[in-house]
Amino acid sequence: MGKNILVLAGDGIGPEVATEAVKVLRAVADVFGHTFHFAEALVGAAAIDATGSPLPPETIAVAEKSDAILFGAVGMPKYDQDPSAAVRPEQGLLQLRKHFDLFANIRPIRLFQPLLQASSLKSEILEGTDIVFFRELVGGIYFGEPRGRNEARDEAWDTMRYTKDAVRRIARMAFEAAMRRKKRLCSVDKANVLESSRLWREVVSEMAPTFPAVTVAHMFVDNAAMQLIKNPRQFDVVLTENMFGDILTDEAAQIAGSLGMLASASLGPRMGLFEPIHGSAPDIAGQGVANPIASILSAGMMLEYACGLLEESYAIGRAVESVLEQGFRTHDIKDAATSEEKIVGTVTMGDLVASQIQRISAF
Ligand code: IPM
Ligand code: MN
Repeated sequence: MGKNILVLAGDGIGPEVATEAVKVLRAVADVFGHTFHFAEALVGAAAIDATGSPLPPETIAVAEKSDAILFGAVGMPKYDQDPSAAVRPEQGLLQLRKHFDLFANIRPIRLFQPLLQASSLKSEILEGTDIVFFRELVGGIYFGEPRGRNEARDEAWDTMRYTKDAVRRIARMAFEAAMRRKKRLCSVDKANVLESSRLWREVVSEMAPTFPAVTVAHMFVDNAAMQLIKNPRQFDVVLTENMFGDILTDEAAQIAGSLGMLASASLGPRMGLFEPIHGSAPDIAGQGVANPIASILSAGMMLEYACGLLEESYAIGRAVESVLEQGFRTHDIKDAATSEEKIVGTVTMGDLVASQIQRISAF
């Protein structure tokens, strides 16, 4: 199979981790006999520095010709400190999501057995956890109008806005995923306070009879934040709006041991973008210590969702698991309590996973 993949490496550790994901994809291509063509383009702070725009038209043009996007990370502290900055790196990602209508953000919380001790949470609480988040990605307070700022009145505002159709299409994907899994769907909202959440809950409740096999629960987001670390096993599929999903998935990352472990797929009608859920981590950028596994697993999701290559996607997950079983760890997932682990950097971790894929072909 031949595929055109656009790599948008972005800022901070983005290029470092994306390079390792590409390395693993090349190993997959080699072993399974596929051809992946990789193109690169600018996004984020790197794009602002070069062109003045976080998502230059050339980047969109290349993306339009690609089958899928492998995304690194965007963000730079100098923009966070400057509230008056007219352009920001994050706009590059948000505009891409909007441009391709990438409404469905799928974030699996996959717990690798060897990392049970890496989490700050007790292993008996975590054991057996397997959650997949469906986060609505192109609506809600991230994009709602009106938004703005009135300097004279010292005020600023954003709007959380949803249409029934926008809720329906992400909810349908979550219901369908629940059908393939443990048939439990938890829809997270703040319907005791927000009008948009009441609409959200209404739509999900209306759809429930269409999926009679699925047990539907509604949970307020504050309670969900608590339940996630109190008893994560109670969750199967979690469905939620854009900002609640952003916050809850960072929290849920701690179940998997580190933000550096979580992959995501952002799907729309004609494009898929695959990225780690972590950011550009400027504090560790350029040091070669970032964990590339989230990016590698995102490449795995790309094979599944954009290429339909299930066996290849599975091979990536299995290769990561095997490398972890052998005791290799990046800094973020090391367990202070044991001396059995071998701490490696970004490039070595990528090499290990890639060679594990190569080894598969030996069987
Ligand atoms: C994420 C990130 C983005 C978001 C930022 C970089 C705009 O935190 O993908 O979770 O808030 O959606
Ligand atoms: Mn986030």
